[in-house]
Amino acid sequence: MHKGLAIYPGSFDPPTNGHLDLIERGAKIFEDLVVAILRNSEKSPMFTVAERREMLQELTAHLKNVRIDTFDGLMVEYAKSLDATCILRGIRAISDYEYELQMALMNRKLEPTLETVFMMPADKYSYVSSRLVREVAQAGGPVKGLVPEVVEHKLREKLDPAYKLRDVRMMEMLESPGGSELGRRERKRKRKA
Ligand code: PNS
Repeated sequence: MHKGLAIYPGSFDPPTNGHLDLIERGAKIFEDLVVAILRNSEKSPMFTVAERREMLQELTAHLKNVRIDTFDGLMVEYAKSLDATCILRGIRAISDYEYELQMALMNRKLEPTLETVFMMPADKYSYVSSRLVREVAQAGGPVKGLVPEVVEHKLREKLDPAYKLRDVRMMEMLESPGGSELGRRERKRKRKA
C-alpha cells in the first residue's frame, strides 16, 4: 500500500459504476483517498454538488479510507492544501489518453511534486461515462448496470417527478397493512355513498 494521500478529482455527474470501480481499486493501493468533486464546473450539471456528494458518500460508506470532498479552482492547489502526493485518474480507452496526458502534464508543470497515477476500470465499464449515462437516461433508456442502484433511482426521480410520487404511494401501501391512506379514504367514501 502506498503511504500518503491521493486525490481522485472529477465531475461525477452522476457517479457511475466505472467511478466506483476505480475508487475501490484506489482504496486498495492508497492509504487514504479523497474523492474530490469540482464545484465550479462551467457545464450546467444535472445533479447539484450536494446531491453528488451525498450519492458518493453513500456509495463509499464501506470504504473506511475514502472520504468525499469538493473543491474550487486549481486542482493542484487543492491537492497541496491536503498534502496529497498523488492524483488518481481513470483511463478507459485510447480516446481518454490524449486529454488525460495533457492534464497530467499541465498539472506536473504547475506542481512537479504531485504525481498522476492512472488506473483502468474493469473492462465491462470501459464504455461507461457520466455524459452517456445522462444522455441515455434523458432519452428514457435503461441505465441498469451502468450506475449504482442509488444513482439509477436519483436519475429517475430527477427526470420524472411523478416517479417520486409513485414511490411514496408504494411505500404507503407497503407500510400500512390495510393498504394506503388514499385507498382507505376511497373505501370509506364508497361505503358512505
Ligand atoms: O470528471 P472530469 O470532468 O473529467 O474531471 C475533470 C477535472 C475536474 C479533474 C479537471 O477539470 C480539473 O482538475 N479541474 C480543476 C481546474 C484545474 O485544475 N484545471 C487544470 C487541469 S490541467
